Amino acid sequence: MEIIIQPTPEAATRLAARMIAGLLQRKPNAVLGLVTGSTPIPLYRELSEMRFDWRQVTTFNLDEYLGLPPDHEKSFHYYMRENLFKHVNIPPANRHIPDGLAADVPSHCADYEERIRKAGGIDLQLLSIGLDGHIGFNEPTSSLASRTRIKTIAPQTRKDNARFFGSEERVPRHCITMGIGTILEARQCLLLAFGTAKARIIAETVEGPLAANNPASALQMHANAIFCLDEKAAQLLKRAVYYRWVYDNKPAWQRH
Ligand code: GLP
Repeated sequence: MEIIIQPTPEAATRLAARMIAGLLQRKPNAVLGLVTGSTPIPLYRELSEMRFDWRQVTTFNLDEYLGLPPDHEKSFHYYMRENLFKHVNIPPANRHIPDGLAADVPSHCADYEERIRKAGGIDLQLLSIGLDGHIGFNEPTSSLASRTRIKTIAPQTRKDNARFFGSEERVPRHCITMGIGTILEARQCLLLAFGTAKARIIAETVEGPLAANNPASALQMHANAIFCLDEKAAQLLKRAVYYRWVYDNKPAWQRH
């Protein structure tokens, strides 16, 4: 794992944008795994302003609430349209988000996995992290080998996401999410976490045991996982001095 600690969320966001820009320059037909939530909004803004030609890019979102139509303003379809898709020229046929209205959920999930495979796999999967360690909507005790499937959203996550819906009662109970196994197959994972509230779970994820009880800890098994943090999210890391030293001493060819 590579742990990068930046002074502010803005600096960490700029660094993440540079990494994605570098990938798109090297590989204009890259396959990106996308994430929603509040953390990546400034990153999507930054990327939108970079004026890339995104015509060959393909995207796969991690998850979607079950029961929300794509035009529902709390759906991840709507979020992606507002925060990225309406600003960049990714062809609609290349954008993939699980269908919250899928009639046959298991076959929709199998088809989603198949689409990822046919696209050649995900080059870079963006991630953020829930306070209980969920990535996508893989809640604690999710199988570390899981694939895209229906999940029941944990009460704590429904509480955390109530701010987007106005009240907890309005937060859907179910979702479709890529599995941990699906995420681990991405060639690179880039997890962003900012703020004091994320400090405990980041310390457990990076330095704690690998356990289904903290699904994000599965990233310890990934050969190319980068954590891009601000000072506040990094404040409980015991080896922070080492991570900074590694970053400051990167050979020139390895710099982001
Ligand atoms: C939602 C998403 C997760 C994300 C989490 C964190 O629950 N399904 O993929 O990690 O939000 O959100 P935020 O960035 O708002 O902290």
